[in-house]
Amino acid sequence: MQTPSSPVANPKTYRVKSFGCQMNVYDGERMAELLAEQGIAPAPEGEDADLVVLNTCHIREKAAEKVYSDIGRLKRDDGTSPLIAVAGCVAQAEGEEIMTRAPAVKMVVGPQAYHRLPQMVAEAVAGRRATDTDMPAETKFDALPRRRRSGPSAFLTVQEGCDKFCTYCVVPYTRGAEISRPYAALIDEAKRLVEAGAREITLLGQNVNAWSGEDAKGRAVGLDGLARELAAIPELARIRYTTSHPNDMTQGLIDAHSEIAKLMPFLHLPVQAGNDRVLKAMNRSHTVESYLKILDRVRAVRPDIALSGDFIVGFPGETEAEFADTLKLVDAVGYSQCYSFKYSPRAGTPAATMGDQVPAAVMDERLQRLQAALNRDQAAFNAATVGKTCTVLVERRGKLPGQWLGKSPWLQSVHFIGEAAIGDLVTVEIASAGPNSLAGVLKVPADASAA
Ligand code: 5AD
Ligand code: SF4
Repeated sequence: MQTPSSPVANPKTYRVKSFGCQMNVYDGERMAELLAEQGIAPAPEGEDADLVVLNTCHIREKAAEKVYSDIGRLKRDDGTSPLIAVAGCVAQAEGEEIMTRAPAVKMVVGPQAYHRLPQMVAEAVAGRRATDTDMPAETKFDALPRRRRSGPSAFLTVQEGCDKFCTYCVVPYTRGAEISRPYAALIDEAKRLVEAGAREITLLGQNVNAWSGEDAKGRAVGLDGLARELAAIPELARIRYTTSHPNDMTQGLIDAHSEIAKLMPFLHLPVQAGNDRVLKAMNRSHTVESYLKILDRVRAVRPDIALSGDFIVGFPGETEAEFADTLKLVDAVGYSQCYSFKYSPRAGTPAATMGDQVPAAVMDERLQRLQAALNRDQAAFNAATVGKTCTVLVERRGKLPGQWLGKSPWLQSVHFIGEAAIGDLVTVEIASAGPNSLAGVLKVPADASAA
């Protein structure tokens, strides 16, 4: 769809602001690469950009209101605005309305169409506002430029979309049906990321463990097969994946946690609630027991695995006793870290029109109790790593002189002081633990101490 607007100068600088999940971060990076290919440069920190992409998230809360206030904030003192593109899931869900309500927005582009952003920028410069929320049959991934730059830890989207239709969730509507990117394209992108500096790759998907493909010999493979092939890239040191669904947790993938040394001992496996009636109403298609059994099987092959999850409190009809079951589940698992949310009705989802919506104050109180339990377990998990020696992938400098920040195998933030560089995989001994990070002492490599 196109509507007229006034022509403007070609943008020289851009800024992409991504909200929400890691897949949006990945999409944001890819949009930045597309714009850079057009000769548009990233705007220096603190300076206005000629083109701003708001890469939005629609999963919870007042997503659309936030977009409108962000658009308002982009207005300059002289009343003009940069060229604004709204991308991501709010664009997909509410594109037409954004175009009507926000004249400053010149482009609305959905998560499956953003490879067309350069053409849309050209249209906008020529004075034509455009919306593209198609879910084209051709994949956007084929149209994206080659990866040329990467930090030590990179994201790689391998799977998109969702066919699960949990009754509270917009993702099946905004991201579309489950698709798996082809094996060869993923190996190729991973190799390029590694050549560009990545030492850790996190495989991304709304249901990443539903990924399936065919390997080079035409054999059907799952995520474990893909991880095995990636592990053969010599300079790649670590592999992670997120987010998984309990129903797609195959024995092959579970076994991979003991068989592939580069696969990190961390599993993000959302459960959402600890009560079977609530899980059924959520259309989760697993029970508390079947979920706990999966965790037992993972722990059997990888006893040190760190477990993570997502929780929703106050799903319509959730009683106090049902919520207490969630706390019981948390106690039984002992998570290393988790995300927890108040239920937020999303227009168009079945749960939004269910009776018995839980009052806000009740949700607040339940969230507080749940988070207190999760924080307690996170602190206990961190404390249990004190005295252990582990690797840390150095991601950036810390605030103190000579200080570096990175991640442990269990995805904890670790800081230490000593000789290191970004991208190094160093060995540290964990000396102390706080609720959100660990302090490590750098172990001098054997060859360096001999010198
Ligand atoms: N309300 C609250 N939380 C939600 N999530 C998804 N949809 C909703 C909603 N309507 C949470 C789930 C999911 C995570 C990405 O966001 O916990 O796993
Ligand atoms: Fe949403 Fe459920 Fe799909 Fe996850 S599995 S993206 S919560 S519908």
